[in-house]
Amino acid sequence: DRSIKIAPSILSADFANFGAEIRAIEAQGADWVHVDVMDGHFVPNLTFGPPAVKAFRPHVKTFMDVHLMIAPVDPYIEAYAEAGADMITAHVEAGPHIHRTLQAIKAQGVKAGVVLNPGTPAEAVADVLDLCDMVLIMTVNPGFGGQKFIHSGVEKTRKMRQMIGDRPIHIQIDGGITPETAPLVAEAGADVLVAGSAVFKGGSVDTPEVYGANMRAI
Ligand code: DX5
Ligand code: ZN
Repeated sequence: DRSIKIAPSILSADFANFGAEIRAIEAQGADWVHVDVMDGHFVPNLTFGPPAVKAFRPHVKTFMDVHLMIAPVDPYIEAYAEAGADMITAHVEAGPHIHRTLQAIKAQGVKAGVVLNPGTPAEAVADVLDLCDMVLIMTVNPGFGGQKFIHSGVEKTRKMRQMIGDRPIHIQIDGGITPETAPLVAEAGADVLVAGSAVFKGGSVDTPEVYGANMRAI
């Protein structure tokens, strides 16, 4: 369904070839580029600091969505905005002051998103929706690519679309998206799908057409 945006997660790309990987997925039709930032504290894995994100920036022609899985978040917002994020998303579980965090993201002049882990109910973000350009619903516990889709995210998506009503707020889904799970969340009201392993599997920068076929299958 082409009204659904695909945001490949470069967590599943070749870490020695990010520039070429980003150009390849965009040439093959990626709508956004999703960057997973992990701190080894909020989630049990480590990935990209602001200098890495800054190095990705010139290769991204579409839209760079930076998913911060870090705690605390606030001390790093300015650095990721300056590194070139078009949107910064922060977890409601990452600290006691998500409202302040979203205000701080907006103050940098970038789009703001709030993220819910699988164990967090939709209602947890009801009072900050007006500060958000997007709600990201996790359908795996964050930290790693290639995990199995958690189905409770489908009903959470349906509830979130109802809560959002006619406000112009994206619903993004992240984790375990495949050709089998994508239609479930799209039908429930999601409009941006992150996919890591399902996009990059079987391909490389030398066979980018595999990425294209993988994205079209979603
Ligand atoms: C998980 C990350 C995801 C992950 C998705 O912590 O936020 O973006 O890379 O990978 P797949 O699509 O393989 O589940
Ligand atoms: Zn992510």
